[in-house]
Amino acid sequence: MNIRVFDTPHDAGIYVAALAEQVIQSRPDPVLGLATGSTPIPFYDALVGLHRCGLDLSHVTTINLDEYIGLPPTHEQSYAHFMHTHLFSRTNIRSENIHIPNGMADDLAAECARYDDVIRAHPIHLQILGIGVNGHIGFNEPDDLLLSKTHVVELRPETVRSNARFFERIEDVPRRAITMGVQAILQADQIVLMAFGPEKADIIARAVLGEVRTDVPASILQLHKRVTVVLDRASAQGLF
Ligand code: F6R
Repeated sequence: MNIRVFDTPHDAGIYVAALAEQVIQSRPDPVLGLATGSTPIPFYDALVGLHRCGLDLSHVTTINLDEYIGLPPTHEQSYAHFMHTHLFSRTNIRSENIHIPNGMADDLAAECARYDDVIRAHPIHLQILGIGVNGHIGFNEPDDLLLSKTHVVELRPETVRSNARFFERIEDVPRRAITMGVQAILQADQIVLMAFGPEKADIIARAVLGEVRTDVPASILQLHKRVTVVLDRASAQGLF
């Protein structure tokens, strides 16, 4: 794993945007796998900055990792809304090139299968990941096993508690989500795992230096040949 430690999340975001720019400019059909949450926001801001200086994103396809079940895209805390606010509405990414699981689907199994078809049709060139305090990537939560395909997941209590910061009341946090499985993540050509802040230091050390374990889902990234771990000093403090 290639580890890069920056003074600030802002600096880290610029670095990841530069990596994305290389992918975007070197291919006719670039596919970015995208994450939500607070961690990738500096990356989206920097990518928007590059777009404002002339980077064309009209040929980019995006595939998001996950979506809450039961929140419509108009809901402020849906991941569709997040992506629209932080990236899509600020760039020229075409709406027909945007893919996010539909957490409102009546038939969730069919929606998961549909999403796997989307991923098969658009192999991911650069996958952006955050990491949960419990080591989840996407919403692949710590468990006895990791699922390879897109699936419905019951969020762990610590994930619900952590995500409650975005909702008025903890009772409002959805308990279930649709998430891409680990196969689609590991099949990406290149992966960037981002983490900032002291609360991520312990899990980053376990994911990067520890054993590969299903109860630390991010540790599976050790098996991928092209992963860059992008940190600030606080999240990197367990590594050195
Ligand atoms: C979000 C996602 C999650 C987050 C993780 C960290 O699409 O897949 O794995 O990356 O929960 O969230 P933040 O960045 O808010 O700490």
